[in-house]
Amino acid sequence: MDIKTIKEYLGVDWLAVQNRIVSSLKSDIGLLNSTNDSILSHSGKQLRPMLSLLMAKACSGGKVTESAIMYAAASELLHNATLLHDDVADGSDKRRGVPTIMSLMGPSVSVLVGDYWLVKAMDLILEAPDDSSSRVMRIFAKTLSDLAEGEMLQLQKAQKGDTDENDYLRIIYNKTASLFEAACVSAAIAAGASDDMIKSAKDYAVALGLAFQIKDDILDYAGTDVVGKPLGADILEQKITMPLLGALASVDQRKNDEVRAMVSDIVSNPQYRDDIVSFVKENGGLEYAVSRLNVYVEQAVKALDAFPDSEAKDSLVELAHFTADRIM
Ligand code: IPE
Ligand code: IPE
Ligand code: MG
Ligand code: MG
Repeated sequence: MDIKTIKEYLGVDWLAVQNRIVSSLKSDIGLLNSTNDSILSHSGKQLRPMLSLLMAKACSGGKVTESAIMYAAASELLHNATLLHDDVADGSDKRRGVPTIMSLMGPSVSVLVGDYWLVKAMDLILEAPDDSSSRVMRIFAKTLSDLAEGEMLQLQKAQKGDTDENDYLRIIYNKTASLFEAACVSAAIAAGASDDMIKSAKDYAVALGLAFQIKDDILDYAGTDVVGKPLGADILEQKITMPLLGALASVDQRKNDEVRAMVSDIVSNPQYRDDIVSFVKENGGLEYAVSRLNVYVEQAVKALDAFPDSEAKDSLVELAHFTADRIM
């Protein structure tokens, strides 16, 4: 099974999500519509709505309600909103293999269009035709505040250069796993799942989200062109991620101080990047990150034990492995 097979399995429900995304973005402002169209024509992996629909099906014996479709669409709108903002925050000029909106049209457009997608996500949740709507709204509101706190903590830590593994895990829970959690928990709620099942949906999503961001951070060190975004960018932004933490854990205090000092000075000395990348590769940083990633993938798969056997559950297992194996 692969991503394409999973989308085919989701069939009409997948199409309904796509249609919801497109229709909820319609505006009478030409510039906004053309910008939206250009984002939609490079849509990325669309993992969050996929997870959301699969979770809805795994919790309901295969049924997908209108609310579940709307929450799935909202998760992808919100994800794209955060990317439009993130590319401004990170100064990124490439995403999904094409120039970012930020680089093509400037940071103001990227922020404003991001705001628009974010509010359209909120609208979809509020319009959902069952009484789960306000509960789900609170879940997504928490995710938005997690995201902002995560990005701010990341900046605070970048300035200090003292990120440890607990800080890193908090940052990646906030900026990535929290939205995976909202996508899966909202789906379980829409499916009428029991509290125990909602808890298992959450455990799966959080572990998967952590694994997903660790893999993103590995790809930043060891990816190829197919990643579609600038590589080696994290360290230039003074982000200390799992591969570097792994390498730092294997050397003595003196070397730790030396490498962390280079990270602190990297903005005025970008040539340090190649030295730090070599340091990570030569000191087992990538292997360490892969081993940590695999722990979370296993945790995610284990959380699915609580669900009855189904094709949707098999696909959720498949997505957990995809997270570890993906090259983009
Ligand atoms: C990118 O997410 C941002 C992270 C949380 C690492 P994806 O890798 O899911 O982005 P797209 O939507 O597929 O481009
Ligand atoms: C995830 O972090 C960003 C968001 C949650 C928006 P990154 O900064 O690593 O994501 P990419 O690498 O730009 O996609
Ligand atoms: Mg970024
Ligand atoms: Mg990244």
